[in-house]
Amino acid sequence: MRSRGLFSACAVAVSGIEAVTAHTFIWGVFVNGVDQGTYRAIRTPAYNNPPPRGYANSPVKDLDSIDMRCNVLGDKQVPYTIKVAPGDNLTFDWHHNNRTDADDVIADSHHGPALVYLSPDPPTDNSFVKIWEEGLYEQGTTPFTPGKWATTADIAANHGHMNVRIPAGLKAGHYLIRAEMIGLHEADANYQKVPFRGAQFYPNCVQIEVVGDGAVELPEGVSFPGAYKYSDPGVVYDIYCSTKTTLTTPCATTTYQIPVWSGAWAETTAVPLGPISGVSTATLWSSWIVKSVVTSATYVGNVPHVVATSTYEASWSAHYVAPTAVAV
Ligand SMILES: *[C@@H]1O[C@H](CO)[C@@H](O)[C@H](O)[C@H]1NC(C)=O
Ligand SMILES: *[C@@H]1O[C@H](CO)[C@@H](O)[C@H](O)[C@H]1NC(C)=O
Repeated sequence: MRSRGLFSACAVAVSGIEAVTAHTFIWGVFVNGVDQGTYRAIRTPAYNNPPPRGYANSPVKDLDSIDMRCNVLGDKQVPYTIKVAPGDNLTFDWHHNNRTDADDVIADSHHGPALVYLSPDPPTDNSFVKIWEEGLYEQGTTPFTPGKWATTADIAANHGHMNVRIPAGLKAGHYLIRAEMIGLHEADANYQKVPFRGAQFYPNCVQIEVVGDGAVELPEGVSFPGAYKYSDPGVVYDIYCSTKTTLTTPCATTTYQIPVWSGAWAETTAVPLGPISGVSTATLWSSWIVKSVVTSATYVGNVPHVVATSTYEASWSAHYVAPTAVAV
C-alpha cells in the first residue's frame, strides 16, 4: 500500500544561485475536482511574492524554527478561506516555476515523503493531526538508487497533484491544512551538525472552513515546531541506500519511516479535475528580492551565499481572527 490514512488501519549538490530561484509550493486547491483559483486561501511561502508578502527563503531545515509550522510568512492570513464539507476530496496543485503540466513540480533529485496535517486555526499545542502520508513505496532496483518516493515518483509524476479527504463527520469550524513535501537528497547529514546539508522541508498552509453539523473533534496531534527531531530516523536518512539489491558497503536504511504518525483517517483517492482558473506564472523572488537571509540552497559548497541580512519574525495569534477581505 502506497499510502495510509487515519482510522484505517533544491538542486542536489547546490550549483550556486540558480538552485534557489524556485522551490515547490501549492499554487491552487481543487475541491471535488473544482479549482478554487490560483493562490486563493493559500498562505503562499515567502519566496514567491514581492514584499510585503515576500521574503527570500529556501526550504526550512531548522526543526526548531517557527517556519516549520506554515513556512515563512505562514502566520499571515490571506483574505480568502475555502469552504469544505466532511468527505470532500481536496487536490493540492504543487508547482515549481508555473502552474502548467510542463512544470517539473519539484527538482527530480528531491526524493522524499509527502504529508498532510490538519489543525484548528490558529494552531495550539499538539493540534496538528496527520491525515495522509506517503513515503518510499518502491525500493531501487540497482545499488544506491533512491527507489520511488512520494515527492518525485508520485506527486511530481502526477503534475503536482496531492490528494486528501476531509475527515468524515469533522466538526464545523476554521482549520489550517498543513501540506508538506520533504526533500531527503541531502538528509544523510544532520542539519544541526552540518548546516549546509540536512533534510529540506516544504510546508504550506491552506485556510479552510469546514461546514455542516459534524461532531467529530480532532484527536490530539503534534506541534510545529516540535514534531520532528533530528533523532527521527525519517529526518536523518540516506536515500541512496534504498535498494533491494545487495550493496557493496553496509547500509542499514533500506526501509523508510515517515516522521510522526499522529493518527489515521480514511484512505484518499484521486478525483477527476476541471480546468484551473487564474494566473499560471509567478515572478521569481530572485528578480525583486532585496532583503533577507537565504539559507540552505544558497550554500556554494559549504560557504553560505547571503543575499542580505534581515530576517522575518513570525507572529501567530492565539485566537481565530477573521481574515480581512482585501485584495493581495
Ligand atoms: C471523494 O472521492 C471518493 C472516491 O472517489 C468518493 O466515493 C466520494 O464520493 C468523494 N466525495 C465527494 C464529496 O465527492
Ligand atoms: C514552466 O516551467 C517549466 C519548468 O518547470 C518550463 O520548462 C516551461 O517552459 C515553463 N512554461 C512557461 C509557460 O513558463
